[in-house]
Amino acid sequence: MENIDWKNLPFQYMKTDYNVRCYYRDGKWGKLEISSSEYIQMHMAATCLHYGQEAFEGLKAYRGKDGRVRVFRWRDNSKRMRDTAEGIKMAAPPEELFKEAIFTVIRLNERFIPPYGYGASLYVRPLLVGSGAEVGVKPAKEYLFMVFVTPVGAYFKEGFKPVDIMICRSHDRAAPLGTGAYKVGGNYAASLTSLEIAHNKGFSTTLYLDAKEKKYIDEAGPANFFGIKNNTYITPDSKSILPSITNMSLMELARKRGMKVEKRPVPVEELSSFEEVGACGTAAVIAPIKKIVDIELNKTYEYCKDGKPGPISTEFYNTLTAIQNGDKEDSFGWIDYVI
Ligand code: PLP
Ligand code: COI
Repeated sequence: MENIDWKNLPFQYMKTDYNVRCYYRDGKWGKLEISSSEYIQMHMAATCLHYGQEAFEGLKAYRGKDGRVRVFRWRDNSKRMRDTAEGIKMAAPPEELFKEAIFTVIRLNERFIPPYGYGASLYVRPLLVGSGAEVGVKPAKEYLFMVFVTPVGAYFKEGFKPVDIMICRSHDRAAPLGTGAYKVGGNYAASLTSLEIAHNKGFSTTLYLDAKEKKYIDEAGPANFFGIKNNTYITPDSKSILPSITNMSLMELARKRGMKVEKRPVPVEELSSFEEVGACGTAAVIAPIKKIVDIELNKTYEYCKDGKPGPISTEFYNTLTAIQNGDKEDSFGWIDYVI
């Protein structure tokens, strides 16, 4: 595509040519429809508008040196959308429909898939909403599943450079037995105040602690948290965080390079013993962390003392992005070709 500055793409919505939609009515999913409108018609009493029956996903398509286009672990996103749908009592798009939707929308917008070598990708955003009208609190009888795409660059403006984050003790993102493990819009609404506080203080994002005791690390804004020490990859086990597909991938990469992997509660004080820490997610990829400030407790944890990402985080970043871009053979079965 002419006119797109692929090198400096922000993580921001850009209009593309087409999106796809599918309606669930009378207990079944209809046919996938292609649309070139960015708008949807919605009943004003739709449950997504009143009672938050809304779920989304995020995955990426990458163009390789060979010109082919790869998607990363879409089956896991599809499964997570079904888990989320079950969690807030929505009809879920079956795997075949999810696949047809994302493959179709990627192919239709091929001219927006960033060329190889710019560190950019096509972000794919599946969305599922309760579209049926209800006034009482109950699940809708009708749903709309849609997918749009938009070319993106790095989520944190730093790219693969160390970021500073702050521990947020004044606000929680998700209740211990709430919807934190589901990808529902309400969790993100709940994160906006603390995010604004963090941004106003110059931090990239917030590090959430477990809402019950404020003793353990939950996750880092729109990304999971990991720490590395003694040849061990450590990541929080918590019922109120999103099960990150990127994190699952890093755990596999860690095992493959002979590291131990521990998924367990991670006490805040353990921050002082890590050699490297980072945040990982589809949008964030890997954001190495150089400073974590616990504002209320007036404590600071520092990493990357030379200003550079740590060696293991760097290796993970290089391996993961090489597999995604097709520069390294995918021995895990993570990649599917769309084009
Ligand atoms: N945690 C939250 C709250 C997120 O929004 C995301 C993004 O999807 C992640 C973690 C990372 O998950 P994934 O690696 O599957 O993108
Ligand atoms: C993703 O990483 O895909 C996300 O969904 C993060 C997003 C909230 C920007």
